[in-house]
Amino acid sequence: MTQTLKFASRVFHRVRCPELGASLGSRGSDSAPRVLADLPGPSTPGFLAELFCKGGLSRLHELQVRGAARFGPVWLASFGTVRTVYLAAPTLVEQLLRQEGPRPERCSFSPWAEHRRRRQRACGLLTAEGEEWQRLRSLLAPLLLRPQAAARYAGTLHGVVRDLVRRLRRQRGLGAGPPALVRDVAGEFYKFGLEGIAAVLLGSRLGCLEAEVPPDTEAFIRAVGSVFVSTLLTMAMPSWLRRVVPGPWDRLCRDWDQMFAFAQQHVEQREAEVALRSQPGKSEEDAGPGAHLTYFLLRKELPAASILGNVTELLLAGVDTVSNTLSWALYELSRHPEIQTALHAEISAALGPGSSTQPSATALSQLPLLKAVVKEVLRLYPVVPGNSRVPDKDICVGEYIIPKNTLVTLCHYATSRDPAQFPEPNSFRPARWLGEGPAPHPFASLPFGFGKRSCMGRRLAELELQMALAQILIHFEVQPEPGSAPVRPMTRTVLVPERSINLQFVDR
Ligand code: HEM
Repeated sequence: MTQTLKFASRVFHRVRCPELGASLGSRGSDSAPRVLADLPGPSTPGFLAELFCKGGLSRLHELQVRGAARFGPVWLASFGTVRTVYLAAPTLVEQLLRQEGPRPERCSFSPWAEHRRRRQRACGLLTAEGEEWQRLRSLLAPLLLRPQAAARYAGTLHGVVRDLVRRLRRQRGLGAGPPALVRDVAGEFYKFGLEGIAAVLLGSRLGCLEAEVPPDTEAFIRAVGSVFVSTLLTMAMPSWLRRVVPGPWDRLCRDWDQMFAFAQQHVEQREAEVALRSQPGKSEEDAGPGAHLTYFLLRKELPAASILGNVTELLLAGVDTVSNTLSWALYELSRHPEIQTALHAEISAALGPGSSTQPSATALSQLPLLKAVVKEVLRLYPVVPGNSRVPDKDICVGEYIIPKNTLVTLCHYATSRDPAQFPEPNSFRPARWLGEGPAPHPFASLPFGFGKRSCMGRRLAELELQMALAQILIHFEVQPEPGSAPVRPMTRTVLVPERSINLQFVDR
């Protein structure tokens, strides 16, 4: 793959670009499109120097903003052995994504796919490509992505959210500081993320939100964090360097092995239960509370290896994403009490003050401020700060021809903090999504990606976030830790808080 990418980026194409006339304006429709060699960008040593002088891989998202300021909306740079075209303007991101073929390739997790090959494990939806990906996607989408499908899990999630509220109450005042202070809320929300996704996938509770957290769930959460760190390192390292410095690659394999073993144990338990329930004479209804994803996959007779690959990858996808977004949401709401008060009023009016009864997914999805808060949090802190695509044909983006098989990075962090799209881009202003000021370009903030390869867990994640925020705000007023300094985001493949966020959960 690396060789193909290198070759593709060297090829000198002089291909006519049908869309080019419109996008070139004064250059006119006869102008020859420009090629990768014409693109601005740092030399490889320049890129590495910039990266490591400015904080290393954890500051990759800021490199997008600096790249756009220095080179304009499109540039070329090498990340490790792979040359990458960076796109940092919503119009260009839209052009690229609208030219996708039927099976878009992301290629951002290639060390993960390599782990599956070496261990002879089946890929899940995150790492699968081509026909295998398409088969899995059409199987999973009706079970997860359709709003009605996600809404089916509202009852399950309500129980998890109730336990989260109880745990937050228990975690208050455990260290130094005010009595309502909970330290490292992200740590609490990782447990919530795993408990929630496991309940949906496996129909069973792991106990992550109990007073005694099962050690294997803590080990799973640690493996997720660690795999994200080693992913960036292994992607940046040429294969010869991996032999000299084997640590990151060995760590990545060890963490994935651990996650597979965890998932295997739970999937096998579900398999045994489903086999019991499916004995002759038992109807589908006899399956009882069998509404979990593994149950549906088993009934669709997906091979056991593929169920395991998907459950493992979905467990990983469910942990850091929802939890970090929830941490940032409460962090911003604690610093903007007037927005928190308005949101609390909106939620109480819809659900009833102090209500602990289960809200319907539809009722929550119709609360405008709640939706705007989630959108604004994901604009400021997109979980996936830089997504990617590898076009399967030569495509035209802006003035340039991008040859097929070129890795293209979509700079979501840079576009969602672009002042031309979002006035005062670093300020938390949910009202910008409620008609205050001109609407941004629809591709300026794309937290769940776009198109056929977009996030499979979007509806579930939105539901989890809305349910958790609603219940937390009904029970607590969330305040910052007195005297705490602002927390910056950092890249760990996904965007996470650079240091612990501590918040006070004061009873209402
Ligand atoms: C706030 C929460 C989340 C955010 C912001 C998020 C964001 C994303 C993004 C940006 C992508 C890449 C989309 C693309 O390439 O166009 C993605 C893919 C994916 N996400 Fe999420 N995600 C979230 C939660 C979840 C959850 C809870 C799950 C698990 C149910 C999940 C499962 C997946 C899967 C399986 C893919 C791969 C889809 C494919 O390749 O076909 N995500 N997500």
